[in-house]
Amino acid sequence: MRKPIMAGNWKMNKTPAEAVELVRALEPIVTRYPQVETVVCPPFVDLPAVAAALQGRGEMGVGAQNVHWAESGAYTGEVSAAMLVGLAKYVIIGHSERRQYFGETDEMVNKKIKLALAHGLTPIVCVGESLEQNEAGITAEFVCGQVRADFAGISAEQAAGIVVAYEPIWAIGTGRTATSEIANRICGQVVRGALVELYGDAIAQAMRVQYGGSANEKNIAELMAMPDIDGALVGGASLKADAFGTMVRLAAESVR
Ligand code: PGA
Repeated sequence: MRKPIMAGNWKMNKTPAEAVELVRALEPIVTRYPQVETVVCPPFVDLPAVAAALQGRGEMGVGAQNVHWAESGAYTGEVSAAMLVGLAKYVIIGHSERRQYFGETDEMVNKKIKLALAHGLTPIVCVGESLEQNEAGITAEFVCGQVRADFAGISAEQAAGIVVAYEPIWAIGTGRTATSEIANRICGQVVRGALVELYGDAIAQAMRVQYGGSANEKNIAELMAMPDIDGALVGGASLKADAFGTMVRLAAESVR
């Protein structure tokens, strides 16, 4: 049985004070649903304040939105995995916005995953096709290729804890979601299928695959009813405690 994981990707939103306000409002809601793992991913500069606000209580996980692939060095403006230790447990790697606006390649994503793992962080690895790729009918092939490239050289033991988020780029922030059937097919047959090829059935069946892209209070129940969708990576709807709290509740209700 895979424990659903609901992660809020706040992107470039919320000051440290606003971040603390949001986690304080979320915490009492999330605490009621221990059957779901809830994670918030604030901007880097908010992490110390959020970590301090949640100190000693394990109800909500904290994640970063990115990490650099090098241990340290002359990389102005970047943040290393070692710097995140103690502030975050998770780290989103290879989000399509990073791939699209900051030129991240599968090779960089692969290096980032390896360094994050070396520092004990849990990667949330994002994959997903563009609208053009979707319309050209090459979604399965493209997403499968991303999984293979992103996981290159990562052992089965290391892979077991990694979370994968399938996020069709055309659904992110657009209000368009993949239908739950299609999302389930890509999460299951394509993403988990690629993981089965790489790591065998037992490991792949234990790994969690989220859906992301305009997930909200209205569509989450239907998405979570799908057998191969193990949670969501939520952007816009994670910025409000009531909306995200409702999504966590609905995800919890999908666990039987
Ligand atoms: P969205 O973002 O929920 O606002 O579409 C999802 C994501 O980019 O992770």
